[in-house]
Amino acid sequence: MKDTRTLLVTGGAGFIGSAVIRQWLADPALRIVCVDKLTYAGNVESLKPVSDSPRFSLEVLDICDAAAMRALFEKEQPDAVVHLAAESHVDRSITGPGEFIQTNVVGTYVLLEATRAYWRQLTADKQQAFRFHHVSTDEVYGTLGDEGAFSETTAYAPNSPYSASKAGSDHLVRAWHHTYGLPVVTTNCSNNYGPYHFPEKLIPLMILNAIAGKPLPVYGDGLNVRDWLFVEDHARAIRAVLERGRVGETYCVGGRAEKTNLEVVHTLCDLLDELHPSSGLHRRLITYVKDRPGHDRRYAIDCAKLEAELGWRQQESFETGLRKTVQWYLDNGDWVRGVTSGDYRRWIESNYGSRSAS
Ligand code: NAD
Ligand code: TYD
Repeated sequence: MKDTRTLLVTGGAGFIGSAVIRQWLADPALRIVCVDKLTYAGNVESLKPVSDSPRFSLEVLDICDAAAMRALFEKEQPDAVVHLAAESHVDRSITGPGEFIQTNVVGTYVLLEATRAYWRQLTADKQQAFRFHHVSTDEVYGTLGDEGAFSETTAYAPNSPYSASKAGSDHLVRAWHHTYGLPVVTTNCSNNYGPYHFPEKLIPLMILNAIAGKPLPVYGDGLNVRDWLFVEDHARAIRAVLERGRVGETYCVGGRAEKTNLEVVHTLCDLLDELHPSSGLHRRLITYVKDRPGHDRRYAIDCAKLEAELGWRQQESFETGLRKTVQWYLDNGDWVRGVTSGDYRRWIESNYGSRSAS
């Protein structure tokens, strides 16, 4: 028996994947192989805190590359796959949906097939212990009115190319369990925020623009609602489901922290007034801009199943998590400068040329 478990974490150089890897590697019983194509959203700087660990390795690979995936399974002999690799930004999916179909749908299919080929030849014990954990989003459920919340039984109704591609991947994962018996679990989580978040998403974009004295672009009337969860709490939820979730089940993960976008931006401005005062109040920078096409109005998650079955509880409130996040961006100028200047691409370009720079 091996005394460490080997996990393949796809998308591990991204926002949530890197949080998973930094957090989980504190457990000496885990060895983690990060599988990442290093698109614009992948950043090796986010893995710097663990890059020297003998239990960590990085494989710069595309999950759509079937031969590379099969070879990787052969080489690493993993005990589980935690699948986060995806194109993740709704605005980009509106202007260029092709990459979303490719990575999120085709890539998930390729990964499932590589996993199945490997899993089939394991011993019965190992087959039973194996997990394919698919990390997905609450956006697959569409949009809510003023009342109610999404749960595991909500019908799928994705509205954006991003959410449609994630819904497609969820269905593939489900089918690979029902048809082939692959032991899968799926989590559908609400909006995450926290350190190392690429500044195309609402919270890091607003923090960095506010620090720079640039306009804070609020889409439409600013009254769209999202349910925010601190990324470290999401990483703990994924671990709970990976280790103790029932095979074939899905678990909704959320922060019970519904906020309008305007409330989020106001809170960020107020925190920056306190932690990084400028010549005027940061709220003066708020600028209303044209709404996103098909902009979902409200998301909210009922995570009672995860709480009742697995005892998961979030440790960070929206207030404490947002304060930590703002402070992190103020304290981590090097990471921020690398991302805003584009220097974070240098590692991939000098090691692999421009092949992964999409
Ligand atoms: P991210 O965009 O920050 O990171 C995605 C990572 O995947 C990057 O490192 C990128 O290089 C990698 N990647 C992209 N295409 C790839 C490919 N073809 N092969 C290998 N690697 C590839 O995304 P994130 O915010 O960390 O989200 C991670 C996962 O969690 C996604 O599946 C997303 O749908 C899901 N999710 C995100 C949120 C959120 O609020 N960010 C909420 C719920 C679920
Ligand atoms: P985002 O961070 O892109 O996540 P998602 O679209 O997956 O929920 O956006 C969160 C909310 O913030 C969403 O309602 C769109 C809005 N938004 C803005 O108002 N301005 C912005 O500049 C961005 C990026 C998002």
